[in-house]
Amino acid sequence: MAHSPHGFSSTLSSPAPLAWSKDSWRSFPIKQSPIYPDQAQLESIEKELGSYPPLVFAGEARALQARLAQACKGEAFLLQGGDCAESFSQFNAVHIRDLFKVIIQMGAILTFGASCPIVKVGRIAGQFAKPRSSDVESNGSVELPSYRGDMINGMEFEPESREHDPRRLLQAYNQSAATLNLLRAFAQGGFADLAQVHKWNLNFVKDNAFGQKYEELASRITQALDFMKACGIDSSTLPTLRETEFYTSHEALVLQYEEQLCREDSLTGQWYDCSAHMLWIGERTRGLDEAHVEFLRGVHNPLGVKVGPTATKEEILGLCDKLNPHNIPGRLNLIVRMGADTIKRNFPALLESINGEGREILWSCDPMHGNTIKAANGYKTRDFNSVLDEVKSFFAIHRANGSYAGGVHLEMTGENVTECIGGSQAITEEGLACNYHTQCDPRLNATQAIELAFLIADMIKAQKI
Ligand code: PEP
Ligand code: CO
Repeated sequence: MAHSPHGFSSTLSSPAPLAWSKDSWRSFPIKQSPIYPDQAQLESIEKELGSYPPLVFAGEARALQARLAQACKGEAFLLQGGDCAESFSQFNAVHIRDLFKVIIQMGAILTFGASCPIVKVGRIAGQFAKPRSSDVESNGSVELPSYRGDMINGMEFEPESREHDPRRLLQAYNQSAATLNLLRAFAQGGFADLAQVHKWNLNFVKDNAFGQKYEELASRITQALDFMKACGIDSSTLPTLRETEFYTSHEALVLQYEEQLCREDSLTGQWYDCSAHMLWIGERTRGLDEAHVEFLRGVHNPLGVKVGPTATKEEILGLCDKLNPHNIPGRLNLIVRMGADTIKRNFPALLESINGEGREILWSCDPMHGNTIKAANGYKTRDFNSVLDEVKSFFAIHRANGSYAGGVHLEMTGENVTECIGGSQAITEEGLACNYHTQCDPRLNATQAIELAFLIADMIKAQKI
């Protein structure tokens, strides 16, 4: 075992990794990758994409990493959320605005309730590709390739729409650019001004008990702002009251897309994947000697990796070695998604064994992907109670091991959908049919997301004591 100057032992037994380049992933085995029938068409689209402007600036990714470094130490908390998959057909301003609203609303609840800075990261402006457990989907006797997200193919159960079409890469880029443009306007143009805190409550949420609770919290924030204004401090003198920091993230699944948005930062000479501020690797593609880890190890954005029920200590240390060899706080976010029962069985020993290794890890909890069930009427759903239970266990296991629960990663929307059962609205399996719209996995609706935020605020507060 080699000792690094940063105080931990490297478990890498192989020699120093070979030189990285933005296309070095191409010589590694790859999973979940689209298969494009026309190589010449793909190459010409890649070339076009590579000529387009980057979507984010490297300095923004560095600023996010600094925020995440605080979350590593328990001095901030990561709130990451958005659709399971964005869609080309549901692309409109209201959808973007309502997700933004709920995230800043949750941010206010958590900041106020837990006296803790909240790092807000949307699963948006690039979240268009889905890993699938099966390559095919059948309907009666018809079998077609699985839907893999609008960046790859179409959801309609038709042979033509299920073909992998590289022109979709360009549409994903354009939609991401327009989405990001609106998000930046909302974050900086006055919409996120704390003085507007009452206006973020969506109409359909207001009648609910947690919507009411939010109104009360908003009134207390307004009171505090009035007091500060009387002391001479308001959003005209203090921009942080007027603006919010909002970052973007998605699963870096289609590496042809990510490679073309890779740019060498002119300030530092380092490579960044400028398709989003933060990228993550999914549970199915985190193999240590595979293409996704190879690609992401070379870019300097903050990275996430999903950690499912079968993850071992060796795999996690291997990911730390490859993705964060210099042990930089805020660089690596491990997103635990084991399921409400499995986390209780598997995570305590795993966390204990890793905590002793001195690795800088921001641990967050995805309480969605290990809790997907099929309702009797066929709908894919998640029970709010299981989601909450997994988050509670995540906090408790960290507390028992002396480490920090540093964030949550949620599939959620600002819309009044009925995709997850339970919560204060008591959505039933029969009620799922009312407003079920997801492109892929079931999302918390705005009311459920706000309820969860109030409950998590209490957990963060308890963790700080
Ligand atoms: C997702 O976040 O949508 C996802 C597919 O997650 P995982 O890789 O954890 O299954
Ligand atoms: Co999902």
